Amino acid sequence: MTGSTTTAAWMALARHRDDGIAPLGRLLGEDPGRATRLGIEVGDLWIDPSRQQVTDTTLGLLADLADERSVASYLQQMLDGQPVNATEGLPALHTALRAPRHEVIRVDGIDVVPGIHATLGRMSDLATAIRDGRRSGATGRPITAVVSLGIGGSHLGPALAAEALSHLGRPDLTVRFSSNLDGADLVAALDGLVPAQTLIVVCSKSFTTIETLTAAESARSWLADGLGDDRVADHLVAVTASPERAAAFGIDAELTFRLPQWVGGRFSLPSAVGLAVMVAIGPPAFMELLAGMRLVDEHVATAPTLRNGPVLLGLIDVWNRSLMGRTSMAVVPYAHRLRLLPSYLQQLSMESLGKGTTLDGRTVDTPSGAVVWGAAGTDGQHAFFQLLHQGTDVVPCDLIGVARPAEDPRGAHQDLLLANLAAQAEALAHGRTAAEAAAGGTPPDLVAHRTFAGNRPSTTILLPELTPSALGQLLATYEHRTVTAAAVWGIDPFDQWGVELGKELASRIAADPAGGAHDGSTLELLRRYRELRGT
Ligand code: F6P
Repeated sequence: MTGSTTTAAWMALARHRDDGIAPLGRLLGEDPGRATRLGIEVGDLWIDPSRQQVTDTTLGLLADLADERSVASYLQQMLDGQPVNATEGLPALHTALRAPRHEVIRVDGIDVVPGIHATLGRMSDLATAIRDGRRSGATGRPITAVVSLGIGGSHLGPALAAEALSHLGRPDLTVRFSSNLDGADLVAALDGLVPAQTLIVVCSKSFTTIETLTAAESARSWLADGLGDDRVADHLVAVTASPERAAAFGIDAELTFRLPQWVGGRFSLPSAVGLAVMVAIGPPAFMELLAGMRLVDEHVATAPTLRNGPVLLGLIDVWNRSLMGRTSMAVVPYAHRLRLLPSYLQQLSMESLGKGTTLDGRTVDTPSGAVVWGAAGTDGQHAFFQLLHQGTDVVPCDLIGVARPAEDPRGAHQDLLLANLAAQAEALAHGRTAAEAAAGGTPPDLVAHRTFAGNRPSTTILLPELTPSALGQLLATYEHRTVTAAAVWGIDPFDQWGVELGKELASRIAADPAGGAHDGSTLELLRRYRELRGT
């Protein structure tokens, strides 16, 4: 991997771009079979990039770029447990978390698969006991609520999965999440719960994250207020790569679930970080989620570049960002249950790809990670689609649909929802010319306002149902797509040094809120804050 824009494959792509690419309306109009030809089935997913502004030549050149940047070999090294997270000297083996028992994956010569299955077994024992009403708290009353505390990767994946699969939940079991340092979040998560029947899961890979530790302390005192100091231990669970810190916090080894050091936070849903999800949906459904992810891991390892769903999407991301200059991408799931997907993808993509230094220490000489944003459709249509259709920036979109939803009152919602997805994809691609607007009776002075340039790219992803497996397939697709783009850009998708500086400064300010070496704006903000607080 070089990440350079002066290599043969990159320059060929740049020349091809400079030659001009036909607009989407023409590409689609001249080739009605484009979706059938370019669409890829990955397990249950139908991934259709036919509304991206790429030609067969573009795709061929992107495949050459993938070869030049050794994308397949980088992915294989990742799958094999090589230390692909170079800046931290670690493998990135989230794929091992969903490997079947018989597989052998070695880290430093030791097969890690038995340990993963042992942890899954312990998770399953606890989850099953809770779901069967056999797990009681310190007073002997059954545990009926689980509150998972964590932030970033220790929150976003589990919260998304629990929400997406909430139709598999049980009415007698409450599973909630709290991530925000703002106490309002924890207060809401604990609202109405009974300490004697609540299990608090403290999820933190490092067990040093200030948000999570602050919430854990507050949750512990909530438990102590209800149960007494000496009876909180039965109600505290840890998920961490640092069992020593969990023990120092007072969490029993028996209730501590280990997260391997070589699993990145944003890739950790299939680890013990998913414990609350397993409680919510049950161990068999959680294993189906893992199996769905595994299916995509196998696809990624074997499918040829242009029939490899995640790899193709990653290459198109590079095309849109680096060659076409698109600064952001919108993710719009037409499924209320997937409404947390944009937040999850913000971390997955932006923490992985928001980097300006290559693995060999050079400055990245092309735009890398795009801003990822979005919201559920059709809510997003009534908020930001104006900009998508007529704004001065072109924003590639992912439009995600689910064919058979868990709920469809009166049978009246779903067809309409899908009609909206299809309509938006078409409107974005084709737009509406001034002549069409005028012919529709638009007054002349409004024609320009009611004209749509079109040529706005989107990818459609269709799922048959929001099953655990299909959700796993969707998330693993985004994981590998992200790593693919990183491989092309030559950056480390598994580190996150960029979050450190802010954390350090926050600690300094928290320790010395009245002063310290800060700029005048910070000092004035703090002075006004103290004044408002009366401190
Ligand atoms: O935001 C930085 C980060 O380190 C993420 O990468 C991580 O997912 C999150 O904080 C939480 O970290 P931890 O699981 O160690 O509490």
